[in-house]
Amino acid sequence: MKTRILVIEDERTALQSLALLLEDEGYEVLKAESGEIGLQIALQQEPDLILLDIRLPDVDGISVLRRLRAGHSESAVIIMTADTNSSNAIRATQNGAFDYIAKPINDEHLLVLIRRALEYRRLEQEVRSLRQAPAEAPAIPGMVGHSLAMQEVYKMIGRVANSDATVLITGESGTGKELVANAIHEFSRRSAGRLVKVNCAAIPENLLEAELFGHEKGAFTNALARRIGRFEQAQGGTLFLDEIAELPLAVQAKLLRAIQDRSIERLGSNTAIAVDFRLITATAHDLSQAVANGRFREDLFYRLNVVNVHLPPLRTRPEDIPLLIQRFLNRSQRPVSIREDALSLLLGHTWPGNVRELENVITRAIVLAPGGVITPDSIQFSDRMPNAAAALELPFSHRDGYWNVIRRVESQLIRTALEDARGNKAEAARALGIQRRLLYEKMAEFGIAE
Ligand SMILES: Nc1ncnc2c1ncn2[C@@H]1O[C@H](COP(=O)(O)OP(=O)(O)OP(=O)(O)O)[C@@H](O)[C@H]1O
Ligand SMILES: [Mg+2]
Repeated sequence: MKTRILVIEDERTALQSLALLLEDEGYEVLKAESGEIGLQIALQQEPDLILLDIRLPDVDGISVLRRLRAGHSESAVIIMTADTNSSNAIRATQNGAFDYIAKPINDEHLLVLIRRALEYRRLEQEVRSLRQAPAEAPAIPGMVGHSLAMQEVYKMIGRVANSDATVLITGESGTGKELVANAIHEFSRRSAGRLVKVNCAAIPENLLEAELFGHEKGAFTNALARRIGRFEQAQGGTLFLDEIAELPLAVQAKLLRAIQDRSIERLGSNTAIAVDFRLITATAHDLSQAVANGRFREDLFYRLNVVNVHLPPLRTRPEDIPLLIQRFLNRSQRPVSIREDALSLLLGHTWPGNVRELENVITRAIVLAPGGVITPDSIQFSDRMPNAAAALELPFSHRDGYWNVIRRVESQLIRTALEDARGNKAEAARALGIQRRLLYEKMAEFGIAE
């Protein structure tokens, strides 16, 4: 079915020329020369989008907007106005307009706005239908945990699996993000296709583009043969981009295009190749923070975050700990049990490394358990879990530059130590294990007041 656009514009020549422009673009156009007629058509025919002149002879555009919303119209609305002072624009968007465009209208700009509004509306509808879908928590092989928070996760997996919706999986390190990606793929109609995984943090920046998009022979110095990229490998299947926050800005732009066009070009080629993939991304970092810092494109963020599956940290769902322990104990060759006091010890831990940390602790405990019984003595928490740093949700990236990051960490350490010591510098220096002189130097360097 064609996308339908209703144009509400009292000036007949303007109305005609807009209609021609839109019909040329393949849209079906409905026309109204007054606000009342426009409203009637809008509510009866539910067009996908409405182009609304703000100054109409009978009613003004803002009240048309209000009545559309009151009538539960879901059409996207773009306001046309000769007078683009900000109060107009703010009032329009406050009343649910997607955007506004200044008259006289620039055709190209208008078409871009329309495409964007339609895409936004499509995503909105997709999300709404997913939220409303009846959700039964599927039994997910490989995942245990019966806490309410995890039940929600399972339900989300069940809801999104059957759609092609793009999913962003968030959660601290070790919470099971990769397991969720596996599950979504396995439950989806794409399970016969491949699940192609790329860890964006593990591949050097200059190689990442070729890795994802592939290259032709001779595309660059070392391109000795043609290489099929990850997008093409995921044809008919799922592409999982892990650690997405680490994607360099240049590659972000190309990813956005691949999502929009559903096609890619290999490096060294101008031929567009259609790719049919479902995209899942994951990060332990706060992507919206990265957007705020200018390290992540906002438009791409919205594309990736169509559906968010968030994994709760283990410390917020201690009721899952016994089940997880049982799961990990069952992997042991010989039967192993856990003593009550050892279990309480584990229940009391905060698990900065989440399930992965628990898994490691149990694996070690099994080895150390005398006579197949885990006691508090067989439990060793390592304070430096391999991924504990990531669990702190560090507010910076290696892309900020080594010394900038170090300086920020230093200054944070000094401030925290001083606060903790209530301003007592001798005590702060002792806690940090540094000379008092160095503390003074650093305070001066970072402009920390006495
Ligand atoms: N609910 C769960 N049930 C069973 N095992 C789990 C569960 N959640 C996580 N695990 C196990 O914990 C380990 C870490 O999980 P996973 O690799 O999916 O975490 P992650 O969120 O991707 O971590 P990172 O951000 O560090 O990559 C894996 O060995 C996984 O099998
Ligand atoms: Mg992971």
